[in-house]
Amino acid sequence: MNRMSNDDDCYLAAVGAGADPSGVPWAELDPAVLYTKRSSIKWARYSADVLPMFVAEMDFAVAPIIRGALQRAVEASDIGYVETPAPYAEAFADFVEDRWAWRLPREYVRLTTDVATGVVEALRLAPKGQQGRLVLSTPCYPGFFEMLQELPFEVVEVPLLDDDTTALNLEAIAREFETGATAFLLCNPHNPHGTPFDANELSALARLAAEYDVFVVSDEIHAPLTHHGATFTPFAPLAADAGALSVTVTSASKGWNLAGAKCAAIVAADDRAHSLLDHLPPEVLTRTSILGVHAGIAAFTEARDWLDLAITQIQANQRLFKALLREHVPAVKYTPGSAGYLAWLDLRGAGLGAEPAERLLAEARIGLNDGRHFGLGGEGFARLNLACAPDTIVQGIERIASLVSPATQASLTNIGGQK
Ligand SMILES: Cc1ncc(COP(=O)(O)O)c(C=O)c1O
Repeated sequence: MNRMSNDDDCYLAAVGAGADPSGVPWAELDPAVLYTKRSSIKWARYSADVLPMFVAEMDFAVAPIIRGALQRAVEASDIGYVETPAPYAEAFADFVEDRWAWRLPREYVRLTTDVATGVVEALRLAPKGQQGRLVLSTPCYPGFFEMLQELPFEVVEVPLLDDDTTALNLEAIAREFETGATAFLLCNPHNPHGTPFDANELSALARLAAEYDVFVVSDEIHAPLTHHGATFTPFAPLAADAGALSVTVTSASKGWNLAGAKCAAIVAADDRAHSLLDHLPPEVLTRTSILGVHAGIAAFTEARDWLDLAITQIQANQRLFKALLREHVPAVKYTPGSAGYLAWLDLRGAGLGAEPAERLLAEARIGLNDGRHFGLGGEGFARLNLACAPDTIVQGIERIASLVSPATQASLTNIGGQK
């Protein structure tokens, strides 16, 4: 065929100038290369024959600005304890004001080790007698269930509305609030779908929380990765307007791929939440890594261009993945999200039985996150990571196709005329 197919167009667009957002050639991000260089979960969990497309870590190289900030800190031996959130708070507040028009007093920002710690420590402060029932919209980030094991809440799972727009089920949430739920753990943008909830939904949630005195902890770790053309609405200003008690936990760790740097922000929505956060034990701050503080400040202030390039790449990768799926594995359903780099795959029609992720790992040697760990509504699904080189996406499709639709494999070998 002489005509370029849609697959070829999407492939060439994703390859772009041949390098990742840090300017590192795609060939250096080949999984076989990364496997020899990195030791994080993504590269250590499975043997080299498994293509690791699970866990929310990017393959892209760290932003040069952030690498420089970390190098300077190490060269200056500035690797002691953190004393104050102030410089980070300044950088964070400027970023959220510029991106989302969220204006906040700097003292509302506290620091902690990571978002998981921030969520747990914030929920530990739920006003006395409020550690009863906590509502969670599922399917959701599996780490929430692990975090909640550290707390005395009874967890109530309320599935998201089962449509393409992936909305909060406000009616079901309201019923839980009316019947005594005391806390809500919001994930905005939502992991795994990549949905930034819309302002109307979030305002309605804030009003309900105010009416029934429900404490809302909003995990906004994926917000910096909101796609070009999409809108992210921070929950805190809406909570403050509605009079709901709320705390936001977030970090530069997803947007700029800094999970190991260990620094996150716990942010009060208003003065009442700020007073609540005064009760955080001092160790919550001390356990933060100063390297994470340096990296976070560099990210929020000077690495915004890198973030925008990363988002552009993720959107191109999404288009490539969607086109290849449609062409070669149509039995797998996927609706691209508009934040982050995670793809939530509906494998219920793929003929892989009740445990598709396990079969894909065992028989196609591709590591995905098993949908069963995401709570109600996750069965038959798997989550796949698109923050990688375009060729890794092609390899991923080849492996999925080898199990789901083996007849299509051959046509992938010449994609873009380059493979
Ligand atoms: C929604 C969400 N919250 C929290 C985390 C974990 O963040 P941290 O490493 O800062 O604890 C993740 C990681 O993927 C996530 O997706």
